[in-house]
Amino acid sequence: MNKLEMHIIANWKQNKTLADLKDWLTGFDSIFDKEKVGQVEIVVAPSFPLIVPLKMIAQEVGYLKISSQDISEYKDGAHTGEVGASQLQGLAEYSIIGHSERRKNGETIDQVNSKITNALELGIKPIVCFSIEEEASAVIEKHGKDAVLFAFEPVSAISSTENSSGPAGVEEIKAMVDKLPIDKVIYGGSVDKSNVDNYLNIQFISGFLVGSASLDPANFAEIANKLH
Ligand code: PGA
Repeated sequence: MNKLEMHIIANWKQNKTLADLKDWLTGFDSIFDKEKVGQVEIVVAPSFPLIVPLKMIAQEVGYLKISSQDISEYKDGAHTGEVGASQLQGLAEYSIIGHSERRKNGETIDQVNSKITNALELGIKPIVCFSIEEEASAVIEKHGKDAVLFAFEPVSAISSTENSSGPAGVEEIKAMVDKLPIDKVIYGGSVDKSNVDNYLNIQFISGFLVGSASLDPANFAEIANKLH
């Protein structure tokens, strides 16, 4: 894998508070193999209020990149509760967009595309989650295949899904990549240190979006250490 083609993203979802940040980063940094820096991009996606404090603490280690978990479909204005690309610029290098937990709450393909437009205009790299072909195709139609990082997350594979069927097989991921005009995808869904080996050295898998296994810093560092 060429330099920085691998991404590992911690999606903390609605977990962690201000008080947890220092311990998480110290725990991660004590185990993470620094020789991976430059090969693997380490990204953490906390809730909005934790972006600034995490960014400040992360300066101590130097290698951590920040992602938001969402971004507004609007540029600015009277949209209570929204956080826009211009407000995240300079704070978050990435933004997760179109996570199934947001789509399930009614987020549409058009909203996802507007969010991507806004992120791209301000230089924030979208990590676009999709679980079915149509969700990825709609993005490719509007933005092309190279503008964003695609993360394939079958809903049934996500650990918090009721009756989750566990991590997807490599064949399932390959079948999805083959349907789309992309040759690489980030995989997400129940990835942990016990199963990540199954996905390493697979040329169309370019990283991992990790939910529950990212909450424990040692776990997340052990997964990161396996990537190359
Ligand atoms: P999980 O979550 O690793 O807990 O399955 C992944 C995600 O929803 O992004």
